[in-house]
Amino acid sequence: MYCLHVVGARPNFMKAAPLIRALAPRPSIRQKVLHTGQHYDRPMSDVFFQELGIPHPDFNLAVGSGTHAQQTSCIMLRFEQIVVDEKPNLIIVYGDVNSTLAAALVCSKLHLPVAHVEAGLRSFDRTMPEEINRLLTDQMADLLFTPSEDADQNLLREGIPRERIHFVGNVMIDCLINLRPQIAEADSGVLPLKYALVTLHRPSNVDDSEMLRKILNALGEISGDLPVVFPCHPRTRHKISEIAFDPPEALRICEPQGYLQFLRLQEHAALVITDSGGIQEETTFLGVPCLTLRDTTERPITVTVGTNKLIGRRPERLHQEVRAVLAGERKAGRVPPLWDGCSADRIANCLCSVL
Ligand code: UD1
Repeated sequence: MYCLHVVGARPNFMKAAPLIRALAPRPSIRQKVLHTGQHYDRPMSDVFFQELGIPHPDFNLAVGSGTHAQQTSCIMLRFEQIVVDEKPNLIIVYGDVNSTLAAALVCSKLHLPVAHVEAGLRSFDRTMPEEINRLLTDQMADLLFTPSEDADQNLLREGIPRERIHFVGNVMIDCLINLRPQIAEADSGVLPLKYALVTLHRPSNVDDSEMLRKILNALGEISGDLPVVFPCHPRTRHKISEIAFDPPEALRICEPQGYLQFLRLQEHAALVITDSGGIQEETTFLGVPCLTLRDTTERPITVTVGTNKLIGRRPERLHQEVRAVLAGERKAGRVPPLWDGCSADRIANCLCSVL
């Protein structure tokens, strides 16, 4: 059976790596990797292929940046040609980025089977482009692999047949567990003894100059209490340059980090401030307090079971929330069910038996 993995953006790579690895020894499976090129800078893409041991992509669509319509349609046009030529038996898509939706849509029109890894997550906020990508991809997928039981419930409510849904756990946590021994060796220079780690890239936080300025001012205040390390996504860096913000010395805005270095930074952080999805999960697994600068999350289990706290798009609350964590007010989180390093094996077993 020929499986084609479709990846495109940074958060896809750590989900695909464990499954590619789990499928590699299975004699009935032949696999190839297609990169859409949605993310293309070395620190946003190549470094992950190297560190995660993902084979060099067999195809690269090199679509690059653009509006949502440009990016999605460009992927669809180039991807269609490849699947028509290659005729894979199964296309595996990951997460909720534009590449995920574009590939699933092409396959559904060509009647090619699609498996969606990280299915069923819902923020119930349709202003998020990822929510639209999630809803539509799940409607088109033939096999849906979920990271948590709330995702199964969401899918059932949307009318997805029970037999298509497989609760397998969190494949991104497989990646973390596989590479944990190397994380300790990752050299990101000397870390401060105690620091807050920050990532921000959601359009709702960084595209609005007023909002971005308020968040940066709050981070500046927090850096008076403890150093703040802020690896900066290219879209955020671009927006910061437009508003001419001059950070205080203890707010260290740096380049995006590779996988190992970033996990090392997370593991040793006093707390993490983020608007990312995956980082809410990684901090829950690592037991590190996480303050999420969003009104909603598609990963509620990180709040109900894990160490995550949603503080809303209210940067004025940030400093007091950080002080509370530093004073010892932290959630005693647990690791959610099936976030055990075996999710990719469960998917591989399912693919081999179903197909
Ligand atoms: C995308 C995903 C988001 C995910 C995020 C992780 C969608 C709708 N969004 O958002 O869910 O959390 O990736 O990073 O798919 N850029 C570069 N170099 C790169 C990549 C991007 O300079 O390698 C810049 C470009 O100016 C681009 C902007 O970042 O226009 C945004 O990139 P894009 O892929 O459109 O969305 P992300 O914000 O990265």
